[in-house]
Amino acid sequence: MIIPVVMAGGSGTRLWPMSRSLYPKQFLSLLNDATMLQDTCGRLAGLETNAPMVICGEDHRFTVAEQLRTLNAGSNGKIVLEPAGRNTAPAVALAALQATRDNDSDPLLLILAADHAITNVDAFQVAVKKAAAHAETGKLVTFGIVPTGPETGYGYIRQGDVEGDAYQIAEFVEKPDQDTAEKYLSSGNYVWNSGMFMFKASRYLEELKKHRPDMLAACEQSMSNATEDVDFVRPDKEAFLACPDDSIDYAVMEPLCSDAASGHAVVVPLDCGWSDVGSWSALWDVSTKDDNGNALHGDVLTHDTRNSYIRSDSKLVATIGLDNVIVVESDDAIMIASKDRVQDVKKIVEQLKQAE
Ligand code: GDD
Ligand code: MG
Repeated sequence: MIIPVVMAGGSGTRLWPMSRSLYPKQFLSLLNDATMLQDTCGRLAGLETNAPMVICGEDHRFTVAEQLRTLNAGSNGKIVLEPAGRNTAPAVALAALQATRDNDSDPLLLILAADHAITNVDAFQVAVKKAAAHAETGKLVTFGIVPTGPETGYGYIRQGDVEGDAYQIAEFVEKPDQDTAEKYLSSGNYVWNSGMFMFKASRYLEELKKHRPDMLAACEQSMSNATEDVDFVRPDKEAFLACPDDSIDYAVMEPLCSDAASGHAVVVPLDCGWSDVGSWSALWDVSTKDDNGNALHGDVLTHDTRNSYIRSDSKLVATIGLDNVIVVESDDAIMIASKDRVQDVKKIVEQLKQAE
């Protein structure tokens, strides 16, 4: 039995002004009519899995329920509501505890981020099937992406010996600094961690117990007093607030892989047009473009405009003589940026927060 677990609690600010705290990017339609959450669940069609379990913040419960409802008329999976964000290691622990409780067994969990784009769904599904076979044997499985630059926002995985159609993980380094990332890239031995994982629920909980017993104890306590209301699961607030905050990458994967000899983790290569859509330029990369290299959304008119991303939500947006520019018009804000400066959107978001 495979239970997809969709982590949808991120607050993504890098796609401001589209992405806001009530509508972070996983709940937006950025590439097509479906939202990124709906795409994440939709690309499981054809794989033999249970209905996906979504784990998100309490504030987003209606958004998630509504987006899942319009996606499939059939039975939905559980929606686990975190009383507060404690990052992905506790989120996955809550999901693993819920999954074992619901099924009275030890299901395989396919951990997915709700805000990634994948253009080749077949290749993604082939990789998931390979991962399932390794996860069945008790391994913690990651999916490795061939890196295209010395990005510092990703985990890096050094591939060790071949293990069937995967590699043992010789080293896992979450978010290295710039110099280290450049060294890894030029060595040719590293792949990026995609942020998706597959393992038996029990194996994750065992590793969490080994590396972060404090976190597991808080999550167990919180789930032992959880309440259920139709599809919503509410872990106990007080116990969860006491849980430390950390990502699965730092809390479990790095320490687990530091003992490479344990052979507990493998990486399955993934070449599926993956992007974590971490910026407007990354979104332009994965968007369909016209003959001039423009990705256009909404009511947009262009003249002599190239290699640009132009998005309108409400008004007609017209551009003349632009090259490599991002224009995003939303209800209450307009952003115009040079395509190679979009990382600085965070500076604007910081200024806005200070002004609040
Ligand atoms: N439920 C829940 N609760 N979900 C969360 C929380 C939380 O507290 N925090 C983050 N998420 C969700 C986000 O919405 C996203 O879908 C996913 O978990 C990953 O979180 P990010 O915050 O986006 O992680 P990251 O991008 O910094 O790093 C991860 O992804 C990279 C690839 O995109 C790591 O796994 C890296 O190693 C990896 O390279
Ligand atoms: Mg991310």
